[in-house]
Amino acid sequence: ARAWRGLIEEYRDRLPVSDRTPVITLREGGTPLLPAPRISQLTGCEVHLKVEGANPTGSFKDRGMTVAISKAAEEGAKAVICASTGNTSASAAAYAVRAGMTCAVLVPQGKIAMGKLAQALVHGARLLQVDGNFDDCLELARKLAVDYPVALVNSVNPYRLQGQKTAAFEIVDALGDAPDVHCLPVGNAGNISAYWMGYKEYAADGVASRTPRMLGFQASGAAPFVRGEPVPKPSTIATAIRIGNPASWDLAIAARDESGGAIDAVTDRQILAAYRLLAREEGVFVEPASAASVAGVLQAAEQGVVPRGSRVVCTVTGNGLKDPDWAISGAPAPTTVKVDAHAAASALGLA
Ligand code: F0G
Repeated sequence: ARAWRGLIEEYRDRLPVSDRTPVITLREGGTPLLPAPRISQLTGCEVHLKVEGANPTGSFKDRGMTVAISKAAEEGAKAVICASTGNTSASAAAYAVRAGMTCAVLVPQGKIAMGKLAQALVHGARLLQVDGNFDDCLELARKLAVDYPVALVNSVNPYRLQGQKTAAFEIVDALGDAPDVHCLPVGNAGNISAYWMGYKEYAADGVASRTPRMLGFQASGAAPFVRGEPVPKPSTIATAIRIGNPASWDLAIAARDESGGAIDAVTDRQILAAYRLLAREEGVFVEPASAASVAGVLQAAEQGVVPRGSRVVCTVTGNGLKDPDWAISGAPAPTTVKVDAHAAASALGLA
Protein backbone atom coordinates (compact mmCIF):
# COMPACT_ATOMS: atom_id res chain seq x y z
CA ALA A 1 0.00 0.00 0.00
CA ARG A 2 1.29 3.44 -0.86
CA ALA A 3 1.18 6.34 1.57
CA TRP A 4 -1.88 8.59 1.73
CA ARG A 5 -1.03 11.83 -0.09
CA GLY A 6 -3.65 14.16 1.40
CA LEU A 7 -7.08 14.62 -0.04
CA ILE A 8 -6.27 17.02 -2.87
CA GLU A 9 -3.98 14.46 -4.48
CA GLU A 10 -6.25 11.54 -3.63
CA TYR A 11 -9.36 13.18 -5.15
CA ARG A 12 -7.76 15.73 -7.49
CA ASP A 13 -10.14 15.09 -10.42
CA ARG A 14 -13.15 15.81 -8.19
CA LEU A 15 -11.81 19.05 -6.70
CA PRO A 16 -11.55 22.58 -8.11
CA VAL A 17 -7.76 22.53 -8.47
CA SER A 18 -5.45 22.72 -11.49
CA ASP A 19 -1.73 22.44 -12.23
CA ARG A 20 -1.43 26.07 -11.15
CA THR A 21 -2.82 25.40 -7.67
CA PRO A 22 -0.09 25.13 -5.02
CA VAL A 23 -1.11 22.16 -2.86
CA ILE A 24 -1.04 23.20 0.80
CA THR A 25 -1.49 20.00 2.76
CA LEU A 26 -0.83 18.36 6.11
CA ARG A 27 -1.89 14.99 4.58
CA GLU A 28 -5.42 15.33 5.94
CA GLY A 29 -8.21 12.86 5.19
CA GLY A 30 -7.90 9.09 4.96
CA THR A 31 -9.43 8.86 8.44
CA PRO A 32 -10.62 5.60 9.99
CA LEU A 33 -14.10 4.26 9.30
CA LEU A 34 -14.47 2.23 12.44
CA PRO A 35 -17.15 -0.36 13.23
CA ALA A 36 -18.90 0.49 16.52
CA PRO A 37 -20.05 -2.81 18.07
CA ARG A 38 -21.62 -1.40 21.22
CA ILE A 39 -23.61 1.32 19.42
CA SER A 40 -24.61 -1.29 16.84
CA GLN A 41 -25.89 -3.54 19.60
CA LEU A 42 -27.84 -0.71 21.25
CA THR A 43 -29.50 0.37 17.99
CA GLY A 44 -29.87 -2.96 16.21
CA CYS A 45 -28.05 -1.36 13.29
CA GLU A 46 -24.63 -1.73 11.68
CA VAL A 47 -23.02 1.47 12.91
CA HIS A 48 -19.65 2.81 11.77
CA LEU A 49 -17.82 5.87 13.07
CA LYS A 50 -16.01 8.22 10.69
CA VAL A 51 -13.27 9.33 13.07
CA GLU A 52 -12.44 12.86 11.97
CA GLY A 53 -10.46 13.60 15.11
CA ALA A 54 -7.69 11.63 13.37
CA ASN A 55 -7.05 14.56 11.01
CA PRO A 56 -3.79 16.53 11.46
CA THR A 57 -5.26 19.30 13.63
CA GLY A 58 -7.81 16.97 15.21
CA SER A 59 -11.00 17.81 13.35
CA PHE A 60 -12.77 17.54 9.99
CA LYS A 61 -12.00 21.20 9.32
CA ASP A 62 -8.66 20.18 7.76
CA ARG A 63 -10.52 18.75 4.75
CA GLY A 64 -12.00 22.11 3.91
CA MET A 65 -8.93 24.06 4.88
CA THR A 66 -6.49 22.28 2.55
CA VAL A 67 -8.63 23.32 -0.41
CA ALA A 68 -9.53 26.81 0.85
CA ILE A 69 -5.92 27.69 1.70
CA SER A 70 -4.53 26.16 -1.51
CA LYS A 71 -6.98 28.25 -3.55
CA ALA A 72 -6.20 31.36 -1.50
CA ALA A 73 -2.50 30.75 -2.24
CA GLU A 74 -3.27 30.33 -5.93
CA GLU A 75 -5.10 33.67 -5.87
CA GLY A 76 -2.12 35.33 -4.22
CA ALA A 77 -3.59 35.87 -0.75
CA LYS A 78 -1.12 36.84 1.96
CA ALA A 79 -3.58 36.68 4.85
CA VAL A 80 -6.66 34.71 5.84
CA ILE A 81 -9.37 35.34 8.41
CA CYS A 82 -12.06 33.23 10.05
CA ALA A 83 -14.63 33.25 12.80
CA SER A 84 -14.62 30.11 14.87
CA THR A 85 -15.88 28.11 17.81
CA GLY A 86 -12.31 26.78 17.84
CA ASN A 87 -11.70 24.03 15.31
CA THR A 88 -11.80 26.17 12.20
CA SER A 89 -9.33 28.58 13.79
CA ALA A 90 -6.99 25.74 14.81
CA SER A 91 -7.02 24.37 11.28
CA ALA A 92 -6.72 27.75 9.54
CA ALA A 93 -3.78 28.66 11.76
CA ALA A 94 -1.90 25.46 10.91
CA TYR A 95 -2.54 25.57 7.16
CA ALA A 96 -1.66 29.28 7.06
CA VAL A 97 1.75 28.35 8.50
CA ARG A 98 2.28 25.82 5.69
CA ALA A 99 1.27 28.47 3.13
CA GLY A 100 3.42 31.23 4.63
CA MET A 101 0.35 33.38 5.26
CA THR A 102 -0.77 35.31 8.29
CA CYS A 103 -3.98 34.17 9.94
CA ALA A 104 -6.48 36.20 11.94
CA VAL A 105 -9.13 34.48 14.02
CA LEU A 106 -12.19 35.80 15.80
CA VAL A 107 -13.54 33.63 18.61
CA PRO A 108 -16.37 34.11 21.11
CA GLN A 109 -14.80 35.17 24.39
CA GLY A 110 -14.73 32.43 27.03
CA LYS A 111 -16.63 29.98 24.84
CA ILE A 112 -13.92 28.00 23.08
CA ALA A 113 -12.21 24.91 24.42
CA MET A 114 -8.67 25.27 25.80
CA GLY A 115 -7.01 22.87 23.35
CA LYS A 116 -8.33 24.81 20.37
CA LEU A 117 -7.19 28.12 21.79
CA ALA A 118 -3.75 26.56 22.32
CA GLN A 119 -3.61 25.45 18.68
CA ALA A 120 -4.37 28.90 17.26
CA LEU A 121 -1.77 30.45 19.57
CA VAL A 122 1.01 27.93 18.99
CA HIS A 123 0.67 28.32 15.23
CA GLY A 124 1.04 32.05 15.61
CA ALA A 125 -2.44 33.22 14.61
CA ARG A 126 -3.57 36.74 15.50
CA LEU A 127 -6.39 35.89 17.85
CA LEU A 128 -9.15 38.25 18.92
CA GLN A 129 -11.67 37.24 21.55
CA VAL A 130 -14.91 38.93 20.62
CA ASP A 131 -17.41 40.08 23.19
CA GLY A 132 -20.20 38.19 21.44
CA ASN A 133 -21.15 34.73 20.18
CA PHE A 134 -20.01 32.81 17.07
CA ASP A 135 -22.69 34.41 14.92
CA ASP A 136 -21.35 37.87 15.86
CA CYS A 137 -17.79 36.71 15.06
CA LEU A 138 -18.82 35.49 11.61
CA GLU A 139 -20.59 38.73 10.79
CA LEU A 140 -17.46 40.63 11.79
CA ALA A 141 -15.13 38.35 9.80
CA ARG A 142 -17.29 38.72 6.69
CA LYS A 143 -17.16 42.52 6.97
CA LEU A 144 -13.39 42.55 7.42
CA ALA A 145 -12.90 40.28 4.39
CA VAL A 146 -14.90 42.72 2.26
CA ASP A 147 -13.06 45.84 3.40
CA TYR A 148 -9.48 44.55 3.89
CA PRO A 149 -7.05 42.32 1.96
CA VAL A 150 -7.79 39.08 3.84
CA ALA A 151 -9.39 35.94 2.42
CA LEU A 152 -12.32 34.53 4.38
CA VAL A 153 -11.90 30.79 5.08
CA ASN A 154 -15.15 30.06 6.88
CA SER A 155 -17.46 27.52 5.22
CA VAL A 156 -19.23 30.35 3.35
CA ASN A 157 -16.08 30.02 1.20
CA PRO A 158 -17.26 27.37 -1.31
CA TYR A 159 -13.82 25.70 -1.44
CA ARG A 160 -14.32 24.59 2.15
CA LEU A 161 -17.34 22.45 1.28
CA GLN A 162 -15.52 21.07 -1.77
CA GLY A 163 -12.80 19.73 0.50
CA GLN A 164 -15.21 18.46 3.13
CA LYS A 165 -17.28 16.47 0.61
CA THR A 166 -14.34 14.04 0.30
CA ALA A 167 -15.34 12.41 3.60
CA ALA A 168 -18.42 11.04 1.83
CA PHE A 169 -16.17 9.72 -0.96
CA GLU A 170 -13.98 7.92 1.56
CA ILE A 171 -17.01 6.29 3.18
CA VAL A 172 -18.37 5.00 -0.12
CA ASP A 173 -14.88 3.88 -1.15
CA ALA A 174 -14.60 1.92 2.13
CA LEU A 175 -18.10 0.41 2.28
CA GLY A 176 -18.49 -0.21 -1.45
CA ASP A 177 -21.68 1.88 -1.53
CA ALA A 178 -23.41 4.65 0.40
CA PRO A 179 -24.81 3.73 3.84
CA ASP A 180 -28.58 3.84 4.49
CA VAL A 181 -28.27 6.66 6.98
CA HIS A 182 -25.61 9.26 7.74
CA CYS A 183 -25.68 11.06 11.11
CA LEU A 184 -23.70 14.14 12.02
CA PRO A 185 -23.67 17.11 14.36
CA VAL A 186 -24.92 20.39 12.91
CA GLY A 187 -23.60 23.82 13.86
CA ASN A 188 -22.95 26.30 11.08
CA ALA A 189 -24.32 23.57 8.75
CA GLY A 190 -21.42 23.43 6.33
CA ASN A 191 -20.52 19.81 6.97
CA ILE A 192 -23.96 18.27 6.42
CA SER A 193 -24.13 20.27 3.19
CA ALA A 194 -20.69 19.08 2.10
CA TYR A 195 -21.40 15.39 2.79
CA TRP A 196 -24.62 15.66 0.82
CA MET A 197 -22.70 17.15 -2.12
CA GLY A 198 -20.21 14.30 -1.97
CA TYR A 199 -22.83 11.57 -1.79
CA LYS A 200 -24.82 13.11 -4.63
CA GLU A 201 -21.72 13.44 -6.78
CA TYR A 202 -20.75 9.79 -6.34
CA ALA A 203 -24.33 8.64 -7.03
CA ALA A 204 -24.60 10.84 -10.15
CA ASP A 205 -21.38 9.34 -11.49
CA GLY A 206 -22.45 5.78 -10.66
CA VAL A 207 -19.71 5.23 -8.07
CA ALA A 208 -22.51 4.68 -5.51
CA SER A 209 -25.89 3.16 -6.33
CA ARG A 210 -27.80 5.48 -3.99
CA THR A 211 -27.56 8.30 -1.45
CA PRO A 212 -28.14 8.01 2.30
CA ARG A 213 -30.77 9.71 4.42
CA MET A 214 -29.00 12.60 6.12
CA LEU A 215 -29.78 12.97 9.83
CA GLY A 216 -28.39 16.11 11.47
CA PHE A 217 -28.36 16.75 15.20
CA GLN A 218 -28.19 20.06 16.99
CA ALA A 219 -27.87 20.71 20.72
CA SER A 220 -31.34 21.49 22.06
CA GLY A 221 -30.24 24.92 23.33
CA ALA A 222 -28.78 25.81 19.93
CA ALA A 223 -31.25 24.26 17.49
CA PRO A 224 -32.32 26.85 14.92
CA PHE A 225 -33.24 24.20 12.32
CA VAL A 226 -35.54 22.46 14.76
CA ARG A 227 -37.18 25.74 15.74
CA GLY A 228 -37.32 26.90 12.13
CA GLU A 229 -35.66 30.23 12.85
CA PRO A 230 -32.38 31.63 14.19
CA VAL A 231 -31.78 31.35 17.94
CA PRO A 232 -30.50 34.70 19.26
CA LYS A 233 -28.79 33.33 22.40
CA PRO A 234 -27.64 29.77 21.67
CA SER A 235 -26.50 27.74 24.66
CA THR A 236 -24.92 24.29 25.02
CA ILE A 237 -21.93 22.65 26.67
CA ALA A 238 -20.93 21.52 23.15
CA THR A 239 -19.21 24.82 22.39
CA ALA A 240 -18.23 23.75 18.85
CA ILE A 241 -21.90 23.81 17.81
CA ARG A 242 -23.05 26.75 19.93
CA ILE A 243 -24.42 28.53 16.87
CA GLY A 244 -27.78 30.24 16.49
CA ASN A 245 -27.74 31.51 12.91
CA PRO A 246 -26.13 28.91 10.61
CA ALA A 247 -24.53 30.29 7.44
CA SER A 248 -25.36 27.27 5.25
CA TRP A 249 -29.08 27.39 6.11
CA ASP A 250 -30.51 26.72 2.64
CA LEU A 251 -27.94 24.03 1.75
CA ALA A 252 -28.65 22.13 4.96
CA ILE A 253 -32.42 22.29 4.44
CA ALA A 254 -31.87 20.97 0.91
CA ALA A 255 -29.67 18.13 2.22
CA ARG A 256 -32.34 17.23 4.74
CA ASP A 257 -35.26 17.33 2.33
CA GLU A 258 -33.66 15.91 -0.82
CA SER A 259 -32.27 12.97 1.17
CA GLY A 260 -35.52 12.22 3.00
CA GLY A 261 -33.71 12.95 6.26
CA ALA A 262 -34.25 15.14 9.30
CA ILE A 263 -32.52 17.65 11.55
CA ASP A 264 -33.41 17.03 15.18
CA ALA A 265 -32.21 18.08 18.61
CA VAL A 266 -30.45 16.20 21.41
CA THR A 267 -30.02 17.54 24.94
CA ASP A 268 -26.66 18.28 26.56
CA ARG A 269 -27.38 15.35 28.87
CA GLN A 270 -27.76 13.00 25.87
CA ILE A 271 -24.61 14.45 24.31
CA LEU A 272 -22.56 13.80 27.45
CA ALA A 273 -23.98 10.28 27.82
CA ALA A 274 -22.95 9.50 24.23
CA TYR A 275 -19.55 11.13 24.84
CA ARG A 276 -18.93 8.76 27.76
CA LEU A 277 -20.31 5.75 25.87
CA LEU A 278 -17.91 6.41 22.98
CA ALA A 279 -14.96 6.66 25.34
CA ARG A 280 -15.79 3.78 27.66
CA GLU A 281 -17.34 1.27 25.27
CA GLU A 282 -15.88 2.04 21.85
CA GLY A 283 -12.44 3.36 22.83
CA VAL A 284 -13.00 6.57 20.90
CA PHE A 285 -12.36 9.91 22.62
CA VAL A 286 -14.23 12.73 20.94
CA GLU A 287 -15.13 16.26 21.90
CA PRO A 288 -18.69 16.78 23.19
CA ALA A 289 -20.10 18.29 19.96
CA SER A 290 -18.98 15.20 18.06
CA ALA A 291 -21.01 12.96 20.32
CA ALA A 292 -24.22 14.64 19.09
CA SER A 293 -24.21 12.33 16.07
CA VAL A 294 -24.11 9.26 18.32
CA ALA A 295 -26.66 10.69 20.78
CA GLY A 296 -28.74 11.29 17.68
CA VAL A 297 -28.58 7.77 16.28
CA LEU A 298 -29.44 6.30 19.68
CA GLN A 299 -32.49 8.57 19.85
CA ALA A 300 -33.50 7.99 16.24
CA ALA A 301 -33.24 4.20 16.61
CA GLU A 302 -35.37 4.30 19.74
CA GLN A 303 -37.98 6.42 17.95
CA GLY A 304 -37.99 4.01 15.00
CA VAL A 305 -36.69 6.74 12.68
CA VAL A 306 -33.76 4.46 11.85
CA PRO A 307 -35.03 0.90 11.30
CA ARG A 308 -33.17 -2.08 12.75
CA GLY A 309 -30.67 -3.55 10.33
CA SER A 310 -29.81 -0.20 8.75
CA ARG A 311 -26.24 0.52 7.81
CA VAL A 312 -25.37 3.79 9.55
CA VAL A 313 -22.33 6.05 9.55
CA CYS A 314 -21.92 8.60 12.34
CA THR A 315 -19.30 11.27 11.82
CA VAL A 316 -17.44 12.06 15.02
CA THR A 317 -16.04 15.43 14.07
CA GLY A 318 -13.31 16.32 16.57
CA ASN A 319 -10.72 14.86 18.93
CA GLY A 320 -11.48 14.61 22.65
CA LEU A 321 -8.14 16.11 23.63
CA LYS A 322 -9.32 19.49 22.42
CA ASP A 323 -11.75 19.82 25.31
CA PRO A 324 -10.59 17.53 28.11
CA ASP A 325 -12.44 19.34 30.89
CA TRP A 326 -15.50 17.17 30.36
CA ALA A 327 -13.44 14.01 30.69
CA ILE A 328 -11.86 15.12 33.93
CA SER A 329 -14.92 16.63 35.60
CA GLY A 330 -16.89 13.37 35.25
CA ALA A 331 -14.15 11.15 36.67
CA PRO A 332 -13.12 10.37 40.25
CA ALA A 333 -9.93 12.08 41.47
CA PRO A 334 -6.87 9.82 40.98
CA THR A 335 -5.43 8.07 44.04
CA THR A 336 -1.85 8.92 45.03
CA VAL A 337 0.41 6.13 46.31
CA LYS A 338 3.97 5.71 47.53
CA VAL A 339 6.50 3.89 45.32
CA ASP A 340 5.39 0.58 46.80
CA ALA A 341 4.03 -2.47 44.97
CA HIS A 342 1.78 -3.57 47.81
CA ALA A 343 0.22 -0.12 48.18
CA ALA A 344 -0.26 0.15 44.40
CA ALA A 345 -1.78 -3.34 44.22
CA SER A 346 -4.20 -2.65 47.02
CA ALA A 347 -5.18 0.76 45.57
CA LEU A 348 -5.89 -1.02 42.28
CA GLY A 349 -7.98 -3.67 44.01
CA LEU A 350 -5.53 -6.38 42.90
CA ALA A 351 -4.44 -7.44 46.37
N1 F0G B 1 -18.33 19.31 15.28
C1 F0G B 1 -17.26 20.04 15.57
C2 F0G B 1 -16.20 19.44 16.42
C3 F0G B 1 -17.14 21.36 15.08
O1 F0G B 1 -16.06 22.08 15.38
C4 F0G B 1 -18.18 21.89 14.29
C5 F0G B 1 -18.10 23.25 13.77
C6 F0G B 1 -19.27 21.07 14.00
C7 F0G B 1 -19.31 19.79 14.51
C8 F0G B 1 -20.40 21.52 13.17
O2 F0G B 1 -20.08 21.57 11.82
O3 F0G B 1 -20.54 23.96 11.45
O4 F0G B 1 -20.22 22.40 9.55
O5 F0G B 1 -22.28 22.28 10.96
N2 F0G B 1 -17.21 24.07 14.13
C9 F0G B 1 -17.02 25.40 13.54
C10 F0G B 1 -15.73 26.02 14.03
C11 F0G B 1 -18.19 26.29 13.64
O6 F0G B 1 -15.60 27.25 14.07
O7 F0G B 1 -14.79 25.29 14.32
P1 F0G B 1 -20.81 22.61 10.88
